[in-house]
Amino acid sequence: MMCPWLKKVRSCGDFGSHSCSAGYKSIPWVTQMKLLHIDSSVLGPHSVSRQVSAAIVDRLRQATPSLDIVYRDLTQTPLAHLSGSHLAAAQGAPAPAELGPDLAASAAVLNEFLDADIVVLGAPMYNFTIPSQLKAWIDRVVVVGKTFKYDANGPQGLAGGKRVIVAISRGGYYGAGSPAASLEHLETYLRGVFGFIGIPNPEFIIADGIQVGPDHREKSLANALQAATSLRPEATPTSSAAVRLPAAADQTTDLREAKTRRPAHPG
Ligand SMILES: Cc1cc2nc3c(=O)[nH]c(=O)nc-3n(C[C@H](O)[C@H](O)[C@H](O)COP(=O)(O)O)c2cc1C
Repeated sequence: MMCPWLKKVRSCGDFGSHSCSAGYKSIPWVTQMKLLHIDSSVLGPHSVSRQVSAAIVDRLRQATPSLDIVYRDLTQTPLAHLSGSHLAAAQGAPAPAELGPDLAASAAVLNEFLDADIVVLGAPMYNFTIPSQLKAWIDRVVVVGKTFKYDANGPQGLAGGKRVIVAISRGGYYGAGSPAASLEHLETYLRGVFGFIGIPNPEFIIADGIQVGPDHREKSLANALQAATSLRPEATPTSSAAVRLPAAADQTTDLREAKTRRPAHPG
């Protein structure tokens, strides 16, 4: 039975049965955790990040068949860039009729995000950062008063308590000390954005070197898929510092090869 007062308990750490005090006696109830799965690669079935994000969701679904999963494909259903009239309407100005669908889409993606206990995000690197489709989603989710606010101490995140797992795919290698490390604005950007809204520990599964050669691609994808199957199944965010599961097998060796064979932008 669903508890009429509490829809779910985030801090419980598992998906089992719980009790809540409802009136005179304790009533058993079952939590239903929500997972939001988002993809943003334009490469459809050829996409690495899509394969890895799907493997992450499969892993979590197998562990918890009752998971309530919402899927959003940001390339099939792209969000518009923010407009001046959108921002004005968000601040209370009268909205022109033609803005209705845009405001509705904004509310839908924000509510999906706020409702989710787990967010699984497929994020390819395009021109050293996230795809513009994913940036449009972030613009709808990073909203003052909803996912962050300012107080006397500065910005404060309001979206804490979610577990966020990001499947990253990159054409080259961007590990610490690599020639292209300073151009890495994908993982670092997402880490910063999620931290800003109160999610300090996003987890990353990374498939690097996808465009360096077929052997690199095969090995990196296999490692990322393996990392997905080894994920812990709980919905709770990790309490440690941000988790990173690099999928590339030997970046030191690969970097040397990549440097001699490829330009900095391997897209
Ligand atoms: C438009 C475009 C831009 C790209 N830019 C970069 C880049 O700046 N750096 C890089 O390492 N790889 C780049 N790549 C390669 C992709 O990151 C790589 O192919 C990755 O696997 C894409 O993820 P996906 O397979 O999920 O689409 C680019 C690819 C495309 C299509």
